[in-house]
Amino acid sequence: MAKQRILVTGANGQVGRELRELADMHPDAIFYFQGREDLPLTNFEMISTVFHTLQPDVLINCAAYTAVDKAEQEKELAFQVNAKAVSVMAALCREHGCRFIHVSTDYVFPGDASKPYIETDATGPLNVYGASKLAGEEQAFALNPETIVVRTSWVYASHGKNFVRTMLKLMAERRAINVVNDQLGKPTYAKDLAGVLLTLATMKEIAGGIYHFANAGATTWFQFAATIARKIGTSCTVLPVSSSEFPTPAKRPAYGVLDTAKIEAVAGIRPRSWEEALGECLDKIHQ
Ligand SMILES: NC(=O)c1ccc[n+]([C@@H]2O[C@H](COP(=O)([O-])OP(=O)(O)OC[C@H]3O[C@@H](n4cnc5c(N)ncnc54)[C@H](OP(=O)(O)O)[C@@H]3O)[C@@H](O)[C@H]2O)c1
Repeated sequence: MAKQRILVTGANGQVGRELRELADMHPDAIFYFQGREDLPLTNFEMISTVFHTLQPDVLINCAAYTAVDKAEQEKELAFQVNAKAVSVMAALCREHGCRFIHVSTDYVFPGDASKPYIETDATGPLNVYGASKLAGEEQAFALNPETIVVRTSWVYASHGKNFVRTMLKLMAERRAINVVNDQLGKPTYAKDLAGVLLTLATMKEIAGGIYHFANAGATTWFQFAATIARKIGTSCTVLPVSSSEFPTPAKRPAYGVLDTAKIEAVAGIRPRSWEEALGECLDKIHQ
């Protein structure tokens, strides 16, 4: 049987890099990892050229405009990368019978819920980034109803720009840090998300649609930071503060907890607890 051909965009991002590591455990597939230089999502013609050259059976889109605050000023670029380019990939996949797996975010929701968001809950992004990601989902489904959208939240890894690495740096430099305690969400280890994306890529049958994935258990940024502090045994004190003390250009949802029951039932995925995943990530950083 011919090997499955899997094209991954955003290969140098948090999730893309984790996929590279996991790819070694899938000798039954041929992976094509494309970073921004190989496949700039602002160049729609190039997307088509690369797609036709590599002829993938599965396209996993891990590339995105992820600068949430900057997006408020760069709306056009955010929509170009997070929506228009996504629609181009979705259409190519539809045309050529390629499975399209696209990563999205809890920021498509307004964050005013009091129970975990399920896939069919009403959206209502609070910021440009969230609106651009929602537009990407909608445009992908309009052109390719078989698209698989995986919404996730609070992604971190042992590399890249993320909350865990920022906290470790601040904890090494300061005696005390203030962290917001009024936003609730589910931290997600990029490695675990990458594993899920590969499961969805290699499953024989999987219906198109939206799937939520995050590590298990909800927490606040403050509790997340306090857990990092406890796990590494720092003397830095972590103090809870309200979001109003940390004004940012983009509004953040106060509640972004994703319900993962659908992906658990459909793909047999059991998200491990965020504390356990965090422990593994911290071990990797300190190795
Ligand atoms: N990070 C989170 O907390 C979070 C939460 C929910 C959902 N998500 C979603 O998860 C997915 C993966 O995110 P991540 O955390 O891995 O983000 P990331 O580390 O920022 O990676 C995104 C990648 O996209 C690339 N990229 C940006 N603009 C591009 C362009 N115009 N053309 C080609 N590539 C471009 C970046 O390239 P460079 O390396 O050159 O910058 C980067 O490697 C994204 O869809 C994101 O929206 C993330």
